[in-house]
Amino acid sequence: MDSKQTVSVISADIQHGVAILTMDNPPVNALGFQVRKGLQSHIVDALENDGVRAIVITSRLALFSGGADIAEFKTGTEAPMLPDVLQTIESASKPVIAVLSGAAFGGGLEVALACHYRITFKGNKVGLPEVNLGILPGAGGTQRLPRLVGVTKALDMIVSGKPKPVESLNGLFDLIVDDPASLDSATQHFVAELLSENRGPRPCSSLPVSIPHDEKEVFETYRAGIKKQARGFFAPEMCIQAVEASTLLPLSEGLQKEASLFMSCMKTPQARAQQHFFFAERAASHVNDYAKETPIREIKKVAVIGAGTMGGGIAMNFANAGIPVILLELKDEALQKGLGKIRENYEATARKGRLSAEDVELRMSAIHGTTEYADITDADLVIEAVFEQMAIKQQVFKTLDEVCKPGAILATNTSTLDINEIAKSTNRPQDVIGMHFFSPANVMKLLEVVKADKTASDVIKTAMMLAKRINKVAVLVGVCFGFVGNRMIEPYSREANRLLLEGATPEQIDKVLYDFGFPMGPFTMGDMAGLDIGYYVRQERQEDIAHDPSYCVVADKLVEMGRVGLKSGRGAYRYEEGNRQPINDPDVLTIAKEQAEALGIRQRTISDQEIIERCLFPLINEGAKILEEGIAAKSSDIDVIYVYGYGFPVYRGGPMQYADEIGLDKIYNAMVDYQTTLGEHGKTWFVPSTLLKKLAESGATFASLTPTSK
Ligand code: 3HC
Ligand code: NAI
Repeated sequence: MDSKQTVSVISADIQHGVAILTMDNPPVNALGFQVRKGLQSHIVDALENDGVRAIVITSRLALFSGGADIAEFKTGTEAPMLPDVLQTIESASKPVIAVLSGAAFGGGLEVALACHYRITFKGNKVGLPEVNLGILPGAGGTQRLPRLVGVTKALDMIVSGKPKPVESLNGLFDLIVDDPASLDSATQHFVAELLSENRGPRPCSSLPVSIPHDEKEVFETYRAGIKKQARGFFAPEMCIQAVEASTLLPLSEGLQKEASLFMSCMKTPQARAQQHFFFAERAASHVNDYAKETPIREIKKVAVIGAGTMGGGIAMNFANAGIPVILLELKDEALQKGLGKIRENYEATARKGRLSAEDVELRMSAIHGTTEYADITDADLVIEAVFEQMAIKQQVFKTLDEVCKPGAILATNTSTLDINEIAKSTNRPQDVIGMHFFSPANVMKLLEVVKADKTASDVIKTAMMLAKRINKVAVLVGVCFGFVGNRMIEPYSREANRLLLEGATPEQIDKVLYDFGFPMGPFTMGDMAGLDIGYYVRQERQEDIAHDPSYCVVADKLVEMGRVGLKSGRGAYRYEEGNRQPINDPDVLTIAKEQAEALGIRQRTISDQEIIERCLFPLINEGAKILEEGIAAKSSDIDVIYVYGYGFPVYRGGPMQYADEIGLDKIYNAMVDYQTTLGEHGKTWFVPSTLLKKLAESGATFASLTPTSK
């Protein structure tokens, strides 16, 4: 070793004429100001040092680098900028070798692309996920990657944002060793050979980007192929244009084009929203209800009570994670039906080629059915998913209290009921918690973890940690009717129905909300779920809607006419046998007109803007009340719930981020206006929450209450 110097986040160590620059900026080697500055100055030093013949860039962490420091996008980036640092690397007069001792993403991979040689190990992954942040790779990725791996692969990586195994990227790596442990010795050998053979720098600027003759239509074909997934997003098209530029321009001009497209993305509300969501998702696991040292309970065996729609899906999550599950039903017939449905689901996945026949059997073998409580006494966690009736749930929890081992966590999947009341039917309320899955439970990423008044902190922590094991994103919430997600969706559906009464059509309302970015509008959604579900909930809650039942008269009438949605061939739309495509039905408009007349409501033309405001502003207002009451700890938690549980477009960041973006004063003023323009309905449902009023008046945002994006 000739010399050693350290700048905290990146060190330079010169060994036998090779400068080894090691990034050490936990947790992910984000390429913040200090790393960029360190990298730049160490490269310059190494180039000026006659004793250095080659430069290696590597990492001390398990990751090579997670890319640019996303937090700096908000606070501002100081020079040297990453593209400039990479220009220094690429134009270096001595060979620069990237040694990827772990995964490289975004700017991290772009560092490697600017180097002249690349080494890694089998099984490692690299990716350019910038598109998920509403931007494109802005440090040469869109220009250098196509030169190294070809246009088709580069396009796929950049537009999908998905990481790829290094073995699948021919042309990118000069050496892929079998075992990460041999990376150091392989690097030494590689560099020694490079120097002995006098192979100098090899910038990829000299490489042409060629499109094979039979792939001339590559860009148009790609655009057509991603049309559905990219609906509403701005960045994917910018990514395509940047890669297209790599095929038309020399590297230096291509880099300029990339920089200009990067800036046009960065300025958009979408980029702000997607970057907010990146931190929101991670911040959901930062909760104050337990400490770092709080132990978690070991979960080795799970029981699920009820093998219906939810119970079956919940059981699958655990089987998928290799955790044995016992599924308990009242009667064998229901049990067999539930198990049969689970098998059907797995086999459908296998038919799509996403699961092998062995895996289907392996997962099925992790699920055991029973009708006897004696079989679940040793479960570490029990999740109840029986009918949504308090008396039945309380009976189930009373039995669980009697049979389950001490310390077992007793969870309920209730979507609305008071978990404190459920906990009271046991002698161990500290062990009772809500684990609210979303349908289909084996697919949806969201888990609302609902803490009741007496839930112990280790139980909360165990539920939050368990979510990660079963590949869910958990958000901790408190007890209230519908918790966060379903409570906020109520005003949304209410206004959609009331707008129908006032003269808008289901088609217009659905189109406006689909164009806003939801996967489908409220009427298509209602028909799919079944209009009877909401009807029965309303029957149970008559006292809550007695003061203004106008909004549900059309929906109630439809159910009373047997029009319960897709399953009956008629709902807010009509359906042809075996076809899920909604068809407009003039009868529904006639029903709405009659109901409006009976209530003395004059139907009118309703603007698309009014539909957005009427459906979304009360939903946001409900979110504000939820924050006020402490049901959600931070507005970003609500955003995570809405994006993962309700299909709120991620490019709007979630309802609270959307509200912050358009301005809370605008929402507050619109609420106040509707209070007067909508008569009784407005007076009842458009009262701004105290929090919304306070924030709007002070010009603040929801995010400012608990900033999560660092
Ligand atoms: N910048 C700033 N912070 C980052 C970060 C980044 N690029 N990547 C991760 N972090 C933070 C997270 O917020 C989290 O903070 P927290 O502990 O306070 O919540 C912490 O690092 C750990 O992150 P994860 O929990 O996500 O850790 P994992 O080990 O599960 O995943 C990862 C690691 C795969 C690197 C994942 O963090 C990730 O996907 N990061 C973002 C990758 C990315 O999008 N890179 C592109 C950045 S934009 C860019 O490079 C622009 C360039 O083209 C110019
Ligand atoms: P479901 O009707 O499909 O299934 C309920 C199952 O529980 C039935 O198979 C029934 O036989 C069984 N069951 C009833 N009483 C039982 C008892 N005492 N012991 C054992 N099994 C019993 O209902 P679904 O949709 O699965 O809902 C279950 C729970 O999940 C409800 O609390 C519901 O609110 C909640 N939920 C439902 C969602 C949905 O979209 N369906 C979404 C999220 C939560």
